[in-house]
Amino acid sequence: MSAAAVDLGRGLRLANPVLLASGPFGYGGRYLELFDPARLGAVVLKGTSPVPWPGNPPPRVAAVDGGLLNAVGLENPGVEAVLAGPARSLAERGCTVVLNVVGHDEDDFVAVARRADLSPHVAALEVNVSCPNVPDGLRYGTDPRAVAGLVAAVRRVTRLPLWVKLPPAPPDRRALARAVADAGADALSLVNTLPALALDRTGRPRLGAGAGGLSGAALRPVALLAVRECADAVDLPIIGMGGVETAEHARAFFAAGARAVAVGTALFRNPLAAVEILAALEADPDPQPPPRR
Ligand SMILES: Cc1cc2nc3c(=O)[nH]c(=O)nc-3n(C[C@H](O)[C@H](O)[C@H](O)COP(=O)(O)O)c2cc1C
Repeated sequence: MSAAAVDLGRGLRLANPVLLASGPFGYGGRYLELFDPARLGAVVLKGTSPVPWPGNPPPRVAAVDGGLLNAVGLENPGVEAVLAGPARSLAERGCTVVLNVVGHDEDDFVAVARRADLSPHVAALEVNVSCPNVPDGLRYGTDPRAVAGLVAAVRRVTRLPLWVKLPPAPPDRRALARAVADAGADALSLVNTLPALALDRTGRPRLGAGAGGLSGAALRPVALLAVRECADAVDLPIIGMGGVETAEHARAFFAAGARAVAVGTALFRNPLAAVEILAALEADPDPQPPPRR
């Protein structure tokens, strides 16, 4: 069961429930020499803004115990270049492409969504209201009323399936999930990275931006709780992510209530992680009791 096709709402059916999370895969790059991303349920592209964003000063990533800290700062060439370049080429390779949408304000999010709606290469939008690495990245993501307004505005300008990516530890997760569902989201992506700090021996931040976002194994228990609580709170499909490194981890997310999982940081240590997880799920589809819902 757990490697079978999944329905993520608004008519979007993915061939399998293993996705590539926004960011670590980038636009494919050298990964394309190592595995075929079209094998996977979907590829979520990096955060995309209406115009190019430069991102944060280096260093942008630092390994920490149990995970990774990053402060890439959503560097991207802007929506026109992303649609004409990687979205198109990955779609032409047979990938189901999801565009991760970022912005400084509602107008930015709406502009990207409106433009993506015209593209034949985008299968869904993932609205990122939870990036800790840009100054206003978390402004929406923790306030149910603000995030609902943003999601409703994006909903009005696109017919694409709309996923909303939430932060790992908002003050009231259930209220946030309900607000997002009521505003017209089709699915929840859970979770983004957790704000965190790594210092060197002199007490200086190891990242150029200062603080960053924690991902990887250390984030997994946090993400599992988010998935379980949101699955209890709303009736939306959930894409779970945060330290998914093995098929066993994927099954834990399914048991918590996720319908699909996305693999991010694990690719840095094992570029084949996502395709290996899929192969393991296919080989042994249902060794555990079915998910709660
Ligand atoms: C280097 C890096 C870049 C990321 N860029 C984005 C991004 O552009 N948009 C976004 O929504 N999430 C981004 N993320 C967060 C991941 O998509 C994911 O939510 C998070 O890392 C947890 O999953 P993981 O532990 O499997 O990496 C990024 C993560 C990393 C490590």
